[in-house]
Amino acid sequence: RMPILEQCYNLMDFEAVAKNVMKKTAWAYYSSGADDEITMRENHSAFHKIWFRPRILQDVEHIDLSTTMLGTKVDIPFYVTATALGKLGNPEGEVILTRGARRHNVIQMIPTLASCSFDEIIDAAEPGQVQWLQLYVNKNRDITKRIVQHAERRGCKGLFITVDAPQLGRREKDMRSKFSDVGSSVQSTSGEDVDRSQGAARAISSFIDPSLSWKDIPWFLGITKMPIILKGVQRVEDVLRAVEVGVHGVVLSNHGGRQLDFARSGVEVLAEVMPALRERGWEKKIEIYVDGGVRRATDIIKALCLGAKGVGIGRPFLYAMSAYGLPGVDRAMNLLKQEMEMNMRLIGCANVEELNPTLVDTRGLSMH
Ligand code: FNR
Repeated sequence: RMPILEQCYNLMDFEAVAKNVMKKTAWAYYSSGADDEITMRENHSAFHKIWFRPRILQDVEHIDLSTTMLGTKVDIPFYVTATALGKLGNPEGEVILTRGARRHNVIQMIPTLASCSFDEIIDAAEPGQVQWLQLYVNKNRDITKRIVQHAERRGCKGLFITVDAPQLGRREKDMRSKFSDVGSSVQSTSGEDVDRSQGAARAISSFIDPSLSWKDIPWFLGITKMPIILKGVQRVEDVLRAVEVGVHGVVLSNHGGRQLDFARSGVEVLAEVMPALRERGWEKKIEIYVDGGVRRATDIIKALCLGAKGVGIGRPFLYAMSAYGLPGVDRAMNLLKQEMEMNMRLIGCANVEELNPTLVDTRGLSMH
């Protein structure tokens, strides 16, 4: 029997319920990672290599979790990252995440490959609610330009260009489950026929341009005033190059372990990125985000201690949405908030500005 919502006490609980109640094809698409799924598992375990060095006797009566991301004030330092095909998990699709994000005053990143149309997701937001766009770059740059400029006109406040997917990874679980119900809006975005034999992911991604390169970035900076963030950066050299080409941020991410297996976790990369930025005095030139395997507020706190501006969370909200709809997403966000308030108190920090590298022991990370 399906547990009632109140029996979910942490984000992992939603995953367990979703696995039981979701259609097999949908579960396969959401839960799969590339190849042997080593990176997917590592994403969460990497956080287990970081320990706290809490401070005592700080006044932690009032905890303020708010911060800013790309200039937007948010109530808690995570955002709902872009995950394709929301209607596989819930007939209403991504707009449920829009409403959940609104309730908690956090930002939603809209995926190129959403099941709802882009405009539906924008229209589902309340006035003033901030959304970002995740972009898969089409081989046809006219289409890309149209998508980007439309997003800007509709009020999107950030353009996240996915750079870790010149070709979609092999997600074998997904390939095995005969995929049949891709949201129809996806086809219109790509403008191409869908080959379903390769699993959900590959079926809808044939329009993505594998020739995308650093040379294209100035073009993007020229067609929009939205801040540009590279999503899927995996080493310090590329973060430095991102600063040099003038983008506004990077997401240290391996696409939730769905692309290159044996890519390192975002938080592991973060630990090598921040010292290199600080060494050059560049840490204010770019905003650093991390995603992948964030399941506990302590994961968020660790990433912020190491210098991240915020973290993206993907699967847990998909699972909460698939199992319980909006109330599930609402509870998942509430749980994170409660966990975070408690752990901020226990670490001795009343607000996120106080989080800093002395509060974590990273000797367990492989960089040492
Ligand atoms: C994703 N992710 C993703 N990223 C992207 O840039 N474009 C996309 O269309 C998708 N689609 C997508 C679908 C599903 C089902 C998942 C699980 C993930 C990657 C996503 O933005 C993010 O990097 C990871 O999901 C973060 O890891 P967690 O939180 O899922 O562990």
